[in-house]
Amino acid sequence: MGDIKPIDIMNQTDIRLSVNVRSFKYPDGTLASSGVAINVRRGEFIGLLGANGSGKTTLLKIMDGLLKDYDGYVLLDGTDIKKLSPRDIYKKVGFVFQNPDNQLFAPTVYEDVAFGPLNMGFSEKETDTRIHCALKDVEMEKFAGKPIQNLSFGEKKRICIAGLLAMGHEILLLDEPTSGLDPMGEYKMMSLLAKLNKEKNVTIAMATHSVDLLPIFLDRLYILSNGQIVREGIPENIFTAPEDMDNIKLRMPQVAEFIYRLKHEDKIPFEKIPLTIGDARREILKTFRKHMNEGEAN
Ligand SMILES: Nc1ncnc2c1ncn2[C@@H]1O[C@H](COP(=O)(O)OP(=O)(O)OP(=O)(O)O)[C@@H](O)[C@H]1O
Ligand SMILES: [Mg+2]
Repeated sequence: MGDIKPIDIMNQTDIRLSVNVRSFKYPDGTLASSGVAINVRRGEFIGLLGANGSGKTTLLKIMDGLLKDYDGYVLLDGTDIKKLSPRDIYKKVGFVFQNPDNQLFAPTVYEDVAFGPLNMGFSEKETDTRIHCALKDVEMEKFAGKPIQNLSFGEKKRICIAGLLAMGHEILLLDEPTSGLDPMGEYKMMSLLAKLNKEKNVTIAMATHSVDLLPIFLDRLYILSNGQIVREGIPENIFTAPEDMDNIKLRMPQVAEFIYRLKHEDKIPFEKIPLTIGDARREILKTFRKHMNEGEAN
């Protein structure tokens, strides 16, 4: 006990999900997760980024207690998830599947979004209010009476998110919530998740391929490759050079690659590699102003 400082104790209680998977194999022998250590702290918005087949979905299922046959542990608020009932987990953690057809099962949008809150014991009136708010949040309020089977893929994704919003979970695990959405829908979905995170303090971990949007919205990233975490940190420390991305089958945000090439191939002396358009604009203006001032001084 003597070694534990108060700050360490505080940090421990702030960790909502602590994942430590030494190895997980599917029944056919595929090693889908190994040497994975992840901590998701209260109020964080983190991303799991990796190429197809790198183990993102597997990891999220482990974090939600859907896969149990692994060597290691997952702690939810300090308790081993294997000792919790599905209901205990479900009260705190909501999961959005990669494929909405695996999540939606009721005949209509309204009934599907109602299922969660009713199951959690909310009254019909409260459930109705929650459904309307959730459908409004994902801009699907006009679709309440529509049969699920007639929705487009992107619309189904939004209904999955609405189902979770209506339940009001403290922790959300989302498997590629933006895949299949159009560019504006993708941005809106990320904005909605960021708003939930910042304004309602919902802790979020999401698997994603949306490299260009990540630096705008996410606090921290874990990069997965062949079932292992190969890098972890804030986006600025992850996306440093295109060649670092090749071996993990990923790419830099486009604006970052553009500035990187100007710096290294055209020798324009940018001080840093910005990851967003706003940052790139500031960096370009700063560099040109400095250049012009130096020109005037000579
Ligand atoms: N039920 C299963 N049985 C056997 N192998 C599986 C099963 N599900 C996934 N795998 C394998 O586990 C590895 C990780 O798969 P996973 O679905 O976790 O990857 P992912 O990063 O989510 O990929 P994607 O970006 O395509 O969704 C892959 O090699 C995959 O073939
Ligand atoms: Mg997946």
